[in-house]
Amino acid sequence: MKMKTILSGMRPTGQLHLGHWVGALSNWIKLQEEYNCLFMVADWHALMSEYKNSGEIKGFAIDNVADWLSCGIDPDKSDIFIQSQVPEHLELLMILSVMVPLGWLFRCPTYKDQVQQLKDKEVNTYAFLGYPVLQAADILLYKAHKVPVGEDQLPHLELCREIVRKFHLISKTEIFIEPKPVLTDIPRFLGIDGRKMSKSYKNYIALDEDDQTLEMKVLSMFTDPERKRRNDPGRPEVCNVFSSYLIFKEEYKDEVRDWCVNAKKGCRDCKKMLSDILKEFIAPIREKKEKILKKKNYIEDILEKGRKNAKSIAIQTINETREALKL
Ligand code: TRP
Ligand code: SF4
Repeated sequence: MKMKTILSGMRPTGQLHLGHWVGALSNWIKLQEEYNCLFMVADWHALMSEYKNSGEIKGFAIDNVADWLSCGIDPDKSDIFIQSQVPEHLELLMILSVMVPLGWLFRCPTYKDQVQQLKDKEVNTYAFLGYPVLQAADILLYKAHKVPVGEDQLPHLELCREIVRKFHLISKTEIFIEPKPVLTDIPRFLGIDGRKMSKSYKNYIALDEDDQTLEMKVLSMFTDPERKRRNDPGRPEVCNVFSSYLIFKEEYKDEVRDWCVNAKKGCRDCKKMLSDILKEFIAPIREKKEKILKKKNYIEDILEKGRKNAKSIAIQTINETREALKL
């Protein structure tokens, strides 16, 4: 039986951090065992917000791919490619664009949000409004059955499904598949200040963080704000240090809860131990990444193989799409 297809992507706009591992990579790594997976560096999506610093995108693309590989994305199982190296994404974007009403895009909750949040980046542009249409093209080009994404991306998936239905209605064909989202079952992992972990908040722990910085960051993590003194009992359920244990060392959860609610240990000790756990988690990733970046042409060869495989599927879909519209 043919395996079902998964497509997912990340925008190369900065260093990857533990939030990416929790929210996406850990899921990708599992899924590659059961699906035919395509993992894409969404550099055109990155360009939509980073066009003033476009020269940085390429470096982040390579760095991010190095992180994917170091975390366990296996290039023998999955295809890794760069969106802009498969121009068919743009042809499908154009074809879909002609049938997407402006209202669908203006109404998209992520659009209003991002224009507000990225004020300094001036994303009130023509291309940015079409962000979800390009994302739909990414997914439909490969007829992905499932798309692992974060919760924030669900409106884009819904829009993609709507676009499929409209395309089918207009073309009287059924060439595409309505993709389904796949969410992770790992609890959310917040930044060290208690907000969403994000590059722009500078509250992240990088996937290749060095031990010293890592420890400093963990020791400054936001905890239960009501546990002010060493003898106050804490509330693990509102503490991000505790949720970090759940993610990275579940077997310690009962012990840590006991320290916390019975004030047996202070937050500093609790964080110190978490820091050691995270060091142990990050060290092999960091070492593997160093090796990967030293191997000449290693990443380039993987990306070339990915590009070729992606391209051959993309061409077929574009041909079918043109045929469906009698172009
Ligand atoms: N918009 C996604 C994000 O910011 C990145 C992305 C681009 C993507 N194209 C995609 C994700 C296609 C899944 C499928 O996370
Ligand atoms: Fe959080 Fe640990 Fe402090 Fe409890 S003891 S509040 S779990 S850091």
